[in-house]
Amino acid sequence: MPDDTLTLEGAIPTDWPAIQALLQEAGLPTDGLAEHLATALVVRGPEGVVACGALELYGESALLRSLAVAPARRGQGLGQRLVHALLGQARERGVRQVTLLTETAGAFFPRFGFRPIPRQEVDPAVQASLEFSHLCPESAQAFLWEAGDGKMRSGESGRRDRRLEIRD
Ligand SMILES: CC(C)(COP(=O)(O)OP(=O)(O)OC[C@H]1O[C@@H](n2cnc3c(N)ncnc32)[C@H](O)[C@@H]1OP(=O)(O)O)[C@@H](O)C(=O)NCCC(=O)NCCS
Repeated sequence: MPDDTLTLEGAIPTDWPAIQALLQEAGLPTDGLAEHLATALVVRGPEGVVACGALELYGESALLRSLAVAPARRGQGLGQRLVHALLGQARERGVRQVTLLTETAGAFFPRFGFRPIPRQEVDPAVQASLEFSHLCPESAQAFLWEAGDGKMRSGESGRRDRRLEIRD
């Protein structure tokens, strides 16, 4: 039986071309992301990088961006695993608020605790980011997640060096 193990782990510089290709295929911007690779996560399969997502850190706020799953791998839970891992990483780094912008996946994010907010209510530090100020169209909806005091939910650990086997 072929080995179809997937692993979720921190991105490394050599992942950059594959991440760019995934984002371009998904119609998402890549500008400015290279500076945040240290807080990007990837899912690797036998064929290479099959999914990615990243956090841009701004003190106690962060921007979740560049969440994409290769079309052939969608609908298998990878997007949800990535969001849980990114939120876990945010908690571990003391982030209190995570914002994202989306035009196409608004219905995907409330399950993680994100709620829609007016763009003008977004933390000014996040509003100043390249993605917020230049890359995402005005029509994109902003969503906000706020850290509670509760315990981490299962799957919400996103340590950069952690290898998480997803499936055999
Ligand atoms: C959005 C995306 C990351 C989801 O990844 P995925 O691995 O296919 O999703 P999962 O398998 O983890 O989750 C599947 C669930 O999410 C829902 N879902 C998937 N894509 C969705 C979308 N664009 N909008 C709303 N819900 C969506 C599915 O209906 C399914 O719901 P269910 O659990 O109620 O059945 C993926 O479709 C993608 O890469 N899209 C293109 C890029 C994009 O839009 N990124 C988000 C904006 S930053």
